[in-house]
Amino acid sequence: MTEIERGHIEHLREELRRHERLYYVLDGPEISDAEYDALMRQLQELEARHPELITPDSPTQRVGGKSREGFVKAGHSAPMLSLDNALNEGELRDFDRRVRDLLRGEPYEYVAELKMDGLSMAARFSGGGFEQAITRGDGQVGEVVTENARTIRSLPLRVETDLPAFEARGEAIMNRRAFEKLNTTRESQNEAKFANPRNAAAGALRALDPSMTASRQLDFYPYFVLVEGQYHFPKHADSLRWLEKTGFKVNRNWKTCPDVDALLSFCREWEEKRESLPYEIDGVVAKVNDLAQQRALGWTAKAPRWAIAFKFPARQEHTVIEDIGIQVGRTGALTPVAHLRPVAVAGVTVSRATLHNEDEIERLGVQIGDTVLIERSGDVIPKVVRVLGEGEQRRKFQMPRHCPVCGGDVVREPGEVASRCINTNCPARLKESILHFSARGVMDIDGMGEVLVDQMVDRGIVASVADVYDLTLDKLIELERMGKKSAEKILKNVDASRKQPLPRVLNALGIPFVGERTAQILADTFGSLDAILAADMDELQKADEVGPKVAHSIVQFFAEPRNRQLVERLRAAGLQFTHQRHRKEGGPLAGLTFVLTGALPNLTREDAKERIEAAGGKVTDSVSRKTSFVVAGESAGSKLDKARTLGVAILDEAQLLEKLGT
Ligand code: IVH
Repeated sequence: MTEIERGHIEHLREELRRHERLYYVLDGPEISDAEYDALMRQLQELEARHPELITPDSPTQRVGGKSREGFVKAGHSAPMLSLDNALNEGELRDFDRRVRDLLRGEPYEYVAELKMDGLSMAARFSGGGFEQAITRGDGQVGEVVTENARTIRSLPLRVETDLPAFEARGEAIMNRRAFEKLNTTRESQNEAKFANPRNAAAGALRALDPSMTASRQLDFYPYFVLVEGQYHFPKHADSLRWLEKTGFKVNRNWKTCPDVDALLSFCREWEEKRESLPYEIDGVVAKVNDLAQQRALGWTAKAPRWAIAFKFPARQEHTVIEDIGIQVGRTGALTPVAHLRPVAVAGVTVSRATLHNEDEIERLGVQIGDTVLIERSGDVIPKVVRVLGEGEQRRKFQMPRHCPVCGGDVVREPGEVASRCINTNCPARLKESILHFSARGVMDIDGMGEVLVDQMVDRGIVASVADVYDLTLDKLIELERMGKKSAEKILKNVDASRKQPLPRVLNALGIPFVGERTAQILADTFGSLDAILAADMDELQKADEVGPKVAHSIVQFFAEPRNRQLVERLRAAGLQFTHQRHRKEGGPLAGLTFVLTGALPNLTREDAKERIEAAGGKVTDSVSRKTSFVVAGESAGSKLDKARTLGVAILDEAQLLEKLGT
């Protein structure tokens, strides 16, 4: 029994590791998330029954859940130094000249890599297992963040290698998608947003609770291997290849460059393309490829002489705040926006920057007329970082008491950071609501852009979101710059949107705190909009991730007669109000593959197959490494032998019935 389970545990671990690598490192999953979860659950259950078999490199141990106070410090095996910077072409050529002089005419080449904007981290392995992670700290001594690093799914916890011990050094980063998701969640929970992925990653890596790190979804991209504190491979490019082959997530956008001109064109190319990457970079790192040459070039006290960081131009600039205006959002929230003296930031002219809310203005201590530092990061709206100088005739900003668009009352509820216009008919709110409703990923009404919506609302063609479904060709061609062709296209898109599934309809309604994810959960849990309408606070909270705040918001939204009316009109327009629920669990055997062999004492082959499939399992004919279990009966033949050779777990009928829960 235990032998079989031991084998099964190891088998599940290997499978999970393989799937983690496919998903997190290679970006090419072979199985669905649900199948992965089912495998994970199997392993968790087995380990719960045999805690003595749990090893720290088991895929279940990514979130150990250990929280603690402060971090232990550890010395680095070799100093973790920084790089000198080259801020322009001239400085890069200077660097190259120094390298050439010091190498006295020997031929050399560079490896150019992207400079990812995260935190450097050392991950130590011994006997192929991940042992310890240390932050850079002061370069000599860092903080031990092993438990947190374990939650980084692209960091393998076990690798195949002959090296008894090694250290992978690289960058822990948060990609843009995880960063944006995090900020959206924080915003909806009235928490301060992070300024950039780097800060969010830094907080996550040094979090006291590893489950917090896990939720931030960091990535680890190594760029060095050290063995006994020394560089190990004869070329830097070999280290990168070895890391990739060994199962690490290596940034593939590196290149060997025969000379400084090739290096420069690599820098220019990535400066152009940086926004297309799923993570932020702030430059390019050039390293002399040959290890012997690296040794010959050596180090200064601060940095290696064989490498340099070519930094992209700053994404921060200073300018003057000429005024502070107000933007009214979909929920009526008033957002103060700084009107700036236009300034070029990394190639784009910026004349507006968000100030978020009154508290942020207070925190920054900013006033109209001040000179400020502004920052553009990724696609995010530019923001004010800090005040650099107070204006001579500076003027304090005051949140208006009345909505600048409709004149309605503005109220700031206790405990809220936002001031809101309470007029639900406010045209600004209506415009934003229609834009949200029609947006890509929501109801997907292509063509329903800002210019069109402004006109429709201003001319009274639409006075409610539902009016979108009453648009006609006549109404549309009345508008400026609207030809018959575009009008027809828009009507077609409006029509097609009636087929959008319930989760999207729910998201489109714009209920505060109900975004894409919560909408999906609600639709899966309740199955229809009417069931959600009928649910009270308690019932709503039975849905995953729905707490009192979200439930209250939903109840409040539907208690509003206007919103009820909107729902009824959308129903009449033929939108999808019911939903095919997804089965949340695939059965106790989901994700597992069985092979039947020999005669079972009680069950026929067909019976066994049916029961396994009913429990979510799969039955196949031949045994392979992918087989989870071989169910063996009397006079089982070659399949049983094969299972033994491959180390696939073997069950008898009684054990199968146990798994089936009968
Ligand atoms: S090499 C001694 N390679 O940039 C060699 N660093 O300004 C030091 N970084 O502390 C590191 N991407 O945190 C190297 N491909 C890359 C990098 C990279 C990002 C960071 C790293 C380092 C800082 C140096």
